[in-house]
Amino acid sequence: MKAHNIFLLILGLATYITFISLKQQPYHHNYYYFGNNIYNIHIINGFTNNSSLPLIVWCSSDDDSGDIGGRALQERDDFSWSVETKFWKNTMYLCTMKLDQKRRKFQAFHGNRDVQRCNPTNHCFWLVKEDGFYFSNDEIYWQKDFSWI
Ligand SMILES: *[C@@H]1O[C@H](CO)[C@@H](O)[C@H](O)[C@H]1NC(C)=O
Ligand SMILES: *[C@@H]1O[C@H](CO)[C@@H](O)[C@H](O)[C@H]1NC(C)=O
Repeated sequence: MKAHNIFLLILGLATYITFISLKQQPYHHNYYYFGNNIYNIHIINGFTNNSSLPLIVWCSSDDDSGDIGGRALQERDDFSWSVETKFWKNTMYLCTMKLDQKRRKFQAFHGNRDVQRCNPTNHCFWLVKEDGFYFSNDEIYWQKDFSWI
């Protein structure tokens, strides 16, 4: 083999090893700029007023998988699906939520907003309550993100 072929081979190997090691560091703070990743999005009916009315959820995305359809959630039901992010696009899932007279659209997943905060567990939880929408990545610490309008 000629010297410059060996050089190219080594350069190729080095690039490959760098890429593999980046993929194996999910907590690397810049990880999401390099790789694809899978997140599990959950929508939980967190109403506690014993309503027999279900929380109606209808979600769709802007990518090939398109509509993921609708669900009727009773109290404490957890509706989840997985999302594979691509580094070259800002994946987004938009959901319409309805309970009785309450109605609102919200982004259940928005790559630029959520990749970093879902990364520690690869889960994005939404707890939907009487007073609004709470986000968590561990179901322990909840942060209110939206109100019903
Ligand atoms: C809902 O039902 C449970 C069990 O019957 C009861 O303990 C709770 O107080 C009820 N909550 C409300 C808001 O009525
Ligand atoms: C529970 O809360 C929802 C939204 O505030 C309301 O529309 C519904 O009537 C309530 N159900 C009961 C049984 O109070």
